[in-house]
Amino acid sequence: MPTHNPVTFFKRFVASPIAVGAVMPTSLATARVMAAPIPKGGTVLEIGAGTGSITQGILERIGDASRLTSIELDPDLGAEFQKNFPHVRLIIGDAEDALKKNITYDAIISGIPFTIMPAAKRARMFDLITKRLKSDGVFVAIQYSLTSLHELKEYFTSVHVRFSAFNVPPAVAYVCKGPKLVEKRFE
Ligand SMILES: C[S@@+](CC[C@H](N)C(=O)[O-])C[C@H]1O[C@@H](n2cnc3c(N)ncnc32)[C@H](O)[C@@H]1O
Repeated sequence: MPTHNPVTFFKRFVASPIAVGAVMPTSLATARVMAAPIPKGGTVLEIGAGTGSITQGILERIGDASRLTSIELDPDLGAEFQKNFPHVRLIIGDAEDALKKNITYDAIISGIPFTIMPAAKRARMFDLITKRLKSDGVFVAIQYSLTSLHELKEYFTSVHVRFSAFNVPPAVAYVCKGPKLVEKRFE
């Protein structure tokens, strides 16, 4: 099991607080809560992978690294991720660009701090996520408040909240199913 270096993470938080969005990597306990809804044998897209704290929970759940693609915006965090998980396919870049590719997944797992992202970008990303999930797929997103609950219900027919106190800060995982496909959401 890789050891996650909180120093790199904290340095990147200081350099880019809005993009990184948390002072410490997600705990393994929270990662396991987030990975539990992934369908067995499913394909997974992880967005906002950081140094790979949630990746660890995903791999425990799916076993086979070839079914996982991870995306991270910050090259320094990406380099640390790749040291931790040399066998996982990592894309360095904006998850919004990757979500434009017409590939569908059984699960999309997010560490991205959506609540502090500009609202228009968040809306575009939620819309793309509904389009990249299989109809019985699941979207799981970690956040640090309940403010996204109402918004996520515009994109999914079912949104459940799982609390994880074993995290700094305490976190919630939104478990979203039933993507609402809207052809022209922004016109
Ligand atoms: C709160 S950290 C979570 C990191 C890791 N998944 C964890 O749980 O410890 C958020 C991560 O999302 C990344 N991020 C933010 N916006 C992103 C975007 N548009 N595309 C890809 N990654 C993004 C940040 O660089 C950061 O690594």
